[in-house]
Amino acid sequence: MPLPATDAIETPRLRLLPVADAHLDDLLAVNGDDRATQFLPYASWVDRADAEAWLARMQTLQATGTAQQRVLVRRDDGRAIGTLLLFKHDEGSRRIELGYVLARELWGQGYMREAAQAACAHAFGALGLRRIEAEVNPDNAASCALLLRLGFTLEGRLRQRWTAKGRSYDTNLYGLLDTDPRPAG
Ligand SMILES: CC(C)(COP(=O)(O)OP(=O)(O)OC[C@H]1O[C@@H](n2cnc3c(N)ncnc32)[C@H](O)[C@@H]1OP(=O)(O)O)[C@@H](O)C(=O)NCCC(=O)NCCS
Repeated sequence: MPLPATDAIETPRLRLLPVADAHLDDLLAVNGDDRATQFLPYASWVDRADAEAWLARMQTLQATGTAQQRVLVRRDDGRAIGTLLLFKHDEGSRRIELGYVLARELWGQGYMREAAQAACAHAFGALGLRRIEAEVNPDNAASCALLLRLGFTLEGRLRQRWTAKGRSYDTNLYGLLDTDPRPAG
């Protein structure tokens, strides 16, 4: 069964909404920053056409029923400050993968922890999943710290797993089970 189209996920400071055209100008600023895309497998966006091409790819991906692309919209000003992707849904194993990016100037304020914590609760609750995975470049200290903070376990290091932007690199594999303890707050 494909992942259901779901409503917003609400957190104290954020609404995690399904991605839409109206978010693209804000997301161009997020993904146009080389520091934000450093560890992501795509080049920084340059113009609105890059944003529209990304949206088209996400809509195609969502149409397969294996992914949910959400936008982090701040409650107080309505700004789209990042994205969170649940993808590679494996129905038989009730497993999914997590990915995310946040506007560079907002790092370190707990926004992604707040968003990812709610998304994981959604995955284990409404979506009925039992395992969430994340693959991270070991040099990506912020992402590795975030996952540990969320209760993920570092399960292994896969050698030279990815090639992106002209170079190959190892990947840390993190996993979170629905039965794992998850830190509060
Ligand atoms: C990874 C990313 C989403 C983290 O978002 P964030 O909102 O800044 O993270 P948070 O503020 O919620 O921090 C979560 C935890 O990680 C820790 N952390 C965050 N950045 C850190 C860093 N650079 N070094 C060490 N720890 C860090 C925080 O201390 C926090 O732990 P705490 O609650 O115990 O203090 C953000 O850095 C980002 O968008 N990076 C670029 C995109 C990217 O690399 N995506 C992942 C690809 S795998």
